[in-house]
Amino acid sequence: MQVAKDAAALAAALEGSRKAGKRIGLVATMGALHAGHSSLVRAARAKCDVVVASIFVNPTQFGPTEDLAAYPRDPDGDRMKLADWGCGVLFLPTVDTMYPAGTESVRVMPPAGLMERLCGPTRPVHFPGVLTVVLKLFQLVRPHAAFFGQKDYQQWRVIAHMAADLLTGVEIVRCPTVREADGLAMSSRNAYLTPDQRAQAVALSRALAAALDRYRAGERDVAALRHSAMSMWLGLTEDEADKPDLEYLEVLDGDTLAPVPRLDGAGVAAIAARVGKARLIDNAILSDDSDDLGLLDLTRGTLFSRLA
Ligand code: PAJ
Repeated sequence: MQVAKDAAALAAALEGSRKAGKRIGLVATMGALHAGHSSLVRAARAKCDVVVASIFVNPTQFGPTEDLAAYPRDPDGDRMKLADWGCGVLFLPTVDTMYPAGTESVRVMPPAGLMERLCGPTRPVHFPGVLTVVLKLFQLVRPHAAFFGQKDYQQWRVIAHMAADLLTGVEIVRCPTVREADGLAMSSRNAYLTPDQRAQAVALSRALAAALDRYRAGERDVAALRHSAMSMWLGLTEDEADKPDLEYLEVLDGDTLAPVPRLDGAGVAAIAARVGKARLIDNAILSDDSDDLGLLDLTRGTLFSRLA
């Protein structure tokens, strides 16, 4: 695996592949890598000849009170993992490389409609920061395809919109959420959880699985779907001493992220909660060809074990 720390080194590392007409895939990350990230590298390898992974803790996507300084970092471990996963080029830029005019400069704004719900209102600088850095990575890497996780559904949605609307020509591939055995979506921020909080964190995926279960049973009324998720959430968290703090639990149109009374097309059930120091998010796609079957099996498992 080649390691490039600036734009010139990255261009040199990719020159041969580009000349040979090879397909280049990008996996953008902020490091502290886990199996969710490795699934993106695997998907990129399946669709591309060369995989570039970037590790850059992007300052512009963190709000002033958020965890930029504390964000977990594991440079040596990450490097070994990426080499092991078959990544061809690791791009490790500095802030100066990514923001030559400083961090208070140009921003790529998502359309207002995609920021009105979910993480948009509480994290106003987040998605503009994400889009800005992702577009810069596209300019430097010039990938044919870029791979993003469903785990960050709203992020995937704004990036897919930006990539098409700004005519980047980059194919955006969404990869399914990778979960721990009990259903918790893998996240670098899970490292913040104490063992007690880790046990409580399972309530997020269980709540979503309840909505997905109801959807699969034929329910399309959004209030009813949300109600099943909320009942599950309350049932699992209400009696906890240090209970997780729900930020939102919403069922929205999966494409526009707008509130709708009924799901005619695909929907998304999305949740955010603060568990101890960690702000965790998760979602389930509500559609007939959803790849969230694992989530559904988990609730079935829970319901059966409760009944037994
Ligand atoms: P990061 O949180 O490191 O995530 C990098 C990529 O891994 C994102 O596309 C994210 O959706 C995906 N990912 C994280 N956890 C996952 C899981 N459990 N299953 C599947 N995919 C998962 O997201 C970011 O970094 C940044 O915002 C970034 C896009 C790199 C821009 O700075």
